Amino acid sequence: MSEKDLFDLSGRVALVTGASRGIGEATARLLARHGAHVIVSSRKAESVEAVADAIRSDGHQAESMACHVGDMNAVDEAFEQIASAHGRLDILVNNAATNPHFGHIAETPMSMVDKTLDVNVKGYFQMSQKAALMMKASGGGAIVNTSSINAERPGPYQGIYSVTKAAVVNMTKAFAKECAAWNVRVNAVLPGLTDTHFASALIQNKQMLEMILPLIPMNRVAQPEEIAPAILFLAADAGSYVTGACLPVDGGFLT
Ligand SMILES: NC(=O)c1ccc[n+]([C@@H]2O[C@H](COP(=O)([O-])OP(=O)(O)OC[C@H]3O[C@@H](n4cnc5c(N)ncnc54)[C@H](OP(=O)(O)O)[C@@H]3O)[C@@H](O)[C@H]2O)c1
Repeated sequence: MSEKDLFDLSGRVALVTGASRGIGEATARLLARHGAHVIVSSRKAESVEAVADAIRSDGHQAESMACHVGDMNAVDEAFEQIASAHGRLDILVNNAATNPHFGHIAETPMSMVDKTLDVNVKGYFQMSQKAALMMKASGGGAIVNTSSINAERPGPYQGIYSVTKAAVVNMTKAFAKECAAWNVRVNAVLPGLTDTHFASALIQNKQMLEMILPLIPMNRVAQPEEIAPAILFLAADAGSYVTGACLPVDGGFLT
């Protein structure tokens, strides 16, 4: 196998959730540049179509699909569409997530607990089930979950979000073990603080940032384009013997 082939995704169909911006968009663009046909997905049809359109304008392959990953019927429908349009799914990047409550964990409203679990845990779980079965039918595939450094070190006032990100780590390992026999690899990335809309409240708060930066050995936040290559590695043949791995991409924060 030549080195170039290790990252070549030609002929593969990849679904990236939360791909209208941030880490998901950077990942969708990178997978497409490496030859995948990318299904760019998030809740908002217009936003994902804009990303898919930009990918096509760059000469690569993409389509868009609106899907709320916390809505079980919407996820069912998305996989029916993929089955009828492509008959296969080779790569799933479970990346869409929500963090609606910033505040003391003991005061988290149960409605926020439900919302966070629905998207970040049940959504990832259902997507993984559907993808793994589809991959099994076509001989294999790769699932990459976006967890977070909060999985290992809960962020202050981000309690329920951190709980869900830890669940994603164990979900990754459980799926990895049980799906290995189907030639389905399942891995996760644990991004550190990344310059996206999701983290803008923290990054744009000068006082907060001054407190956080000394905790990061590299002394800076990540750009989404620095998380995407780790996802590419885990999705591509370059990662062919890697499964159940949860890879920090965090400038050394967890070290
Ligand atoms: N940024 C960080 O510092 C950081 C650190 C560690 C981990 N992460 C993780 O990285 C992942 C991506 O976050 P990001 O930082 O790239 O955030 P972002 O730029 O805000 O993007 C979030 C994406 O998720 C989509 N989305 C939100 N809720 C959704 C839902 N219910 N169903 C489907 N799509 C949904 C959004 O699009 P729509 O609004 O159109 O749905 C958007 O495309 C998340 O899993 C997050 O937990 C981020």
